[in-house]
Amino acid sequence: MGTNEIELLQQLNLQHLWLPFTANRQFKAQPRLLVAARDMHYTAHDGRTILDAVAGLWAVNAGHCRAPIVEAISRQAATLDYATGFQMHHPGAFLAAEKLAAIAPAGLDRVFFVNSGSEAVDTALKMALAYHRLRGEGTRRVLIGRERGYHGVGFGGISVGGMPGNRKTFGNLLPLVDHLPHTHDAQRNAFSRGQPQWGAERADALESLIALHDASNIAAVIVEPVAGSTGVLLPPAGYLQRLREICDRHGILLIFDEVITGFGRTGAAFAAQTFGVTPDLLTCAKALTNAAVPMGAVLVKREIFDAFMTGPESSIEFYHGYTYSGHPLASAAAIATLDLFRDEDLFARGAALAPYWEDAVHSLRGLPNIIDLRNIGLVAGIELESIPSKPGARAFEAFLRCYRRGVLIRTTGDTIALSPPLILERRHVDEIFGVLAEVLRDLP
Ligand SMILES: Cc1ncc(COP(=O)(O)O)c(C=O)c1O
Repeated sequence: MGTNEIELLQQLNLQHLWLPFTANRQFKAQPRLLVAARDMHYTAHDGRTILDAVAGLWAVNAGHCRAPIVEAISRQAATLDYATGFQMHHPGAFLAAEKLAAIAPAGLDRVFFVNSGSEAVDTALKMALAYHRLRGEGTRRVLIGRERGYHGVGFGGISVGGMPGNRKTFGNLLPLVDHLPHTHDAQRNAFSRGQPQWGAERADALESLIALHDASNIAAVIVEPVAGSTGVLLPPAGYLQRLREICDRHGILLIFDEVITGFGRTGAAFAAQTFGVTPDLLTCAKALTNAAVPMGAVLVKREIFDAFMTGPESSIEFYHGYTYSGHPLASAAAIATLDLFRDEDLFARGAALAPYWEDAVHSLRGLPNIIDLRNIGLVAGIELESIPSKPGARAFEAFLRCYRRGVLIRTTGDTIALSPPLILERRHVDEIFGVLAEVLRDLP
């Protein structure tokens, strides 16, 4: 440890903070703190520069501490710090909604602001229930998620999500929930480039669930177009189209959770556009503000919004909202971020680099322990064979070693998930995969 690092850690009392999704005791024994950031890099507490191969957490798509966003937030903080959205509001929230609607998939041009991906998911699920009730189909209450889905940490999100850890820790959760099978097929689709060819028929499981519950009881299906948090699982070619067709046939709403796939990650603004399938509701967060201020949103088809705008004009149409919905600082950050995406044509820039990225991902093939490589846009999943009886340990060791060598990666189970800022250049791709290859070669 260097002198500065020791001094910093001596000044900090690490005991009070309970870190989220972290092995707290292990972390506090050997903390990894970030103290500054710019563009593609973080500065660690020991002064080292760390190349960010994960955009913070699938979030800083325009790169770190970008001047237009920093300035917009500072200006806003000094002008209007807060205004409620309950029976009042401020211009910035309207402008942010207009700019978001302008890049949304066709028809999803009504926007409800929240503060996180989890809130966006729970809001979308509640909208689906309320929508059916408003139309006199209040029996539609079953929500269908998918195995290996991740939809944040609210009670709604963990119920429709498919992470066994949540059921193990919190029990069975919402009662009227069922799940589709996940789409990952390691046998048939290993080492696919882009969308895997096999597995569209897994969408037919929805027909079985409809036969079981009856369509008249089902409100919505929610899926991530690309599942990230459970290991970068790509939709097989034709799968999302088939889900869409089945939902249409049975009057079921389709919700895409685009919290990680939004804002250029897969090539277009949203994965819905990349894959050519339009959901009825779409959740987003993270890169909406380049993660500089917490914010999420639910994008809603106009017909759904219109269904709420009935009844007496003096009545509150949707009994839902947050103290910080459309917060002025978040709105300012969203406006500046969406402008920056447009001004620098960042979605197209990310898409242009994707073939180079894909080649770099697949150049790892043949290194020890790699059992699959997957990619789409600027996303990669590198799946490692688990050490028997120690799931996740091998990938976590890779994370620690990459961090020591100045590259921030992320792991989920034994899959390394990469999702860099869209401003990345070829030299950054070379550095990320150069370090990864060295680390993977020597891993236990
Ligand atoms: C698909 C998806 N939905 C929801 C969330 C939850 O977002 P947040 O952590 O902002 O609540 C995440 C977080 O990674 C996510 O990947």
